[in-house]
Amino acid sequence: MKSEEDAFGQMIWAYYKGKEVFEIWERDDGYISVALPKTYFSEYADWPLHQRKAMEFVKGSVLDVGCGAGRHSLYLQKKGLDVLGIDVSPLAVKVCRLRGVKKAKVMSIEEVNFKPRAFNSVIMMGNNFSLFGGFKKARRLLHKFHRMTTQNARIIAETRDPYRTDNPTYLEYYELNKKRGRMSGQLRGRLRFERYIGKWFDWLSVSKEEMVEILNETSWKVKEFIDSEDSQYIAIIEKMA
Ligand SMILES: C[S@@+](CC[C@H](N)C(=O)[O-])C[C@H]1O[C@@H](n2cnc3c(N)ncnc32)[C@H](O)[C@@H]1O
Repeated sequence: MKSEEDAFGQMIWAYYKGKEVFEIWERDDGYISVALPKTYFSEYADWPLHQRKAMEFVKGSVLDVGCGAGRHSLYLQKKGLDVLGIDVSPLAVKVCRLRGVKKAKVMSIEEVNFKPRAFNSVIMMGNNFSLFGGFKKARRLLHKFHRMTTQNARIIAETRDPYRTDNPTYLEYYELNKKRGRMSGQLRGRLRFERYIGKWFDWLSVSKEEMVEILNETSWKVKEFIDSEDSQYIAIIEKMA
């Protein structure tokens, strides 16, 4: 990634340096949303209950995919687990290291290629199931995850049920997506920060039924869902023998 494309990392870096910043996301139909990045730096005690519960399922050697500013890596590392955080953003990885993440690497989810049985757990927190991007890419990456994880491994993945909204611009967008042959919750967007503009990417939000359909014909199966008070939920996904 070119440094001028690392809008997410620049935003994380500015926040880390004490600036007041916003996360600006632009959808490909022109819809703009704004969020505060403080969640990326939040401590375990401040996480919602479903996220804290999910951490009980993480074991052994852990791959934190899209680790951001490293909040989950830091928590698990403190508990004595061997954690590797990967993120496509070089500046996010720099912030992780400065915050004490022992193993953090610049790597995109598309590039993961670890040795067989390297991890017992893969975590995709902060709605990072969405990094699977689309149906086919998800299946391809799940196949890769199979090879690089041990028997009885788990994927702990968070996403948002796209249909649990009454925001008309989202409902219209899902219709537009269906017309263009995409999954309803396959959001195409890019991040912006000051003069930095990220590349367009697909961010896949799925209902529980859609997640189960993606996992069908793979060697992964949902063991249980952990619900939150809103549309976010976490799937505990287990490797089948
Ligand atoms: C919503 S944030 C979640 C961060 C962190 N997991 C958390 O919960 O605080 C998404 C993260 O995924 C990273 N990311 C985006 N595209 C990626 C890709 N293709 N491969 C790996 N990481 C990616 C972003 O840089 C960002 O750090």
